[in-house]
Amino acid sequence: MAGGVVMNHGGGKDYPGKLTMFVLFACIVAATGGLIFGYDIGISGGVTSMNPFLMKFFPAVYRKEQEAEKNQSNQYCKFDSPLLTMFTSSLYLAALVASFFASTVTRVAGRKWSMFGGGVTFLVGAALNGTAKNVLMLILGRVLLGIGVGFANQSVPLYLSEMAPARLRGMLNIGFQLMITIGILCANLINYGTAKIKGGWGWRLSLALAAVPAAIIAVGALFLPDTPNSLVDRGHTDSAKRMLRRVRGTDDVEEEYRDLVAASEESKLVTHPWRNILQRRYRPQLTMAIAIPFFQQLTGINVIMFYAPVLFKTLGFADDASLMSAVITGLVNVFATFVSIVTVDRLGRRKLFLQGGTQMLACQIVVGSLIGAKFGFSGVANIPKGYAAFVVLFICAYVAGFAWSWGPLGWLVPSEIFPLEIRSAGQSITVSVNMLFTFIIAQAFLPMLCHFKFILFFFFGAWVVVMTLFIAFFLPETKNVPIEEMVLVWKAHWYWRRFIRDEDVHVGADVEMPSKLAN
Ligand code: BGC
Repeated sequence: MAGGVVMNHGGGKDYPGKLTMFVLFACIVAATGGLIFGYDIGISGGVTSMNPFLMKFFPAVYRKEQEAEKNQSNQYCKFDSPLLTMFTSSLYLAALVASFFASTVTRVAGRKWSMFGGGVTFLVGAALNGTAKNVLMLILGRVLLGIGVGFANQSVPLYLSEMAPARLRGMLNIGFQLMITIGILCANLINYGTAKIKGGWGWRLSLALAAVPAAIIAVGALFLPDTPNSLVDRGHTDSAKRMLRRVRGTDDVEEEYRDLVAASEESKLVTHPWRNILQRRYRPQLTMAIAIPFFQQLTGINVIMFYAPVLFKTLGFADDASLMSAVITGLVNVFATFVSIVTVDRLGRRKLFLQGGTQMLACQIVVGSLIGAKFGFSGVANIPKGYAAFVVLFICAYVAGFAWSWGPLGWLVPSEIFPLEIRSAGQSITVSVNMLFTFIIAQAFLPMLCHFKFILFFFFGAWVVVMTLFIAFFLPETKNVPIEEMVLVWKAHWYWRRFIRDEDVHVGADVEMPSKLAN
């Protein structure tokens, strides 16, 4: 075992150092980057269920909705409009493309400038949306919001994972997801309030208030220090060492610094991260960068996040009650996230994934059956209040399961598994895949609800089975492992070890690999 380096129970080394106020504060500020993403997720569903908004921009949808109400016709199909879903999902396409540009900014200029750029672009988008006169302005504004989200989601998780001491990395990184959920909740609450505004301009306020989280991250980013990893990588070795001492709150940072330098030297050999990431030795990380965000979206969570008010209206709730139910799921989402904050570095990532997956599956089966039993395939029914409340209860349990598993871990795990040389590129892939499938689901949900009806819940349930098995077999535990030593975890894994040759393993100090790492 290398001098001064202690292997801890989770595998990997424990560097000296404590959680300093400096790091905690930096991580809180950076995590606010999640607010813009969350605000956006939460705002669109509510706005698209406001009648004045529909009447102004999507009159055909409005008429169809009114008719369905009058004739008690097929509930599953009343909101099906491609233009309306385009409004919701245009953002995700923009974010998808933007995250590739963000990759270069994040690597070359440092993580904080990507966050700053994200905040500013989002701010402009919010202004355009709040003052929109036509659908074009509306969609253009959303494209700018999307660019903002692309930049923030690319840089914030990396920033957090690099700043945090290894044994608290999960907790600090989940600050990002916590801010996402707070953003969603605030948006839900704001919609609840603005929907009541008499003049019919409440939707404007909802959209314009996106400027608040945007300003928070833009200004916050200006004050953030760069991560030691990024400083070393950009050749600022002296400031990197100074920063490392400052963030760890000790002068005893030699071991960790050596790991950073080793990682950076490795990184210097790589001039084309995009081509490099395709090499065989990065196969495990690349697989996770694609599979994790893909699966996260295939849980079906955004059906609830985007369309909760619409879904609840479908269940026969009145306008007000629908928005209120969205507030309830939003609250559950925030509070359940704390469960993962507290447990992720102790129980580990795998246990949360497996438990959360099982809970979601059970709830999906119940919700699908409850809706199926009442609406059948015709989609015509009047659901009694108590029955609908029961459905909402299981939807909440489903959201809770997501909020302590796939929600936070869907961002945490990809951000902590890449070696420095391909970290930024890898994160872009994660963001893009996430956005692509968020887009596809946002676009496809209403038509799918119209055609598959309650079977849709079983469809997502089946995916949850697949992803839970995937985690069980293919995801090694990464808790407490220093980020620049992650290669040891793959090297010890029963399946992934075959992709990594001995000479691919470079870490700063010699470490013995504990047998516990193998799984
Ligand atoms: C996901 C979003 C989702 C949110 C819900 C995030 O981790 O990426 O798509 O809406 O969690 O809290």
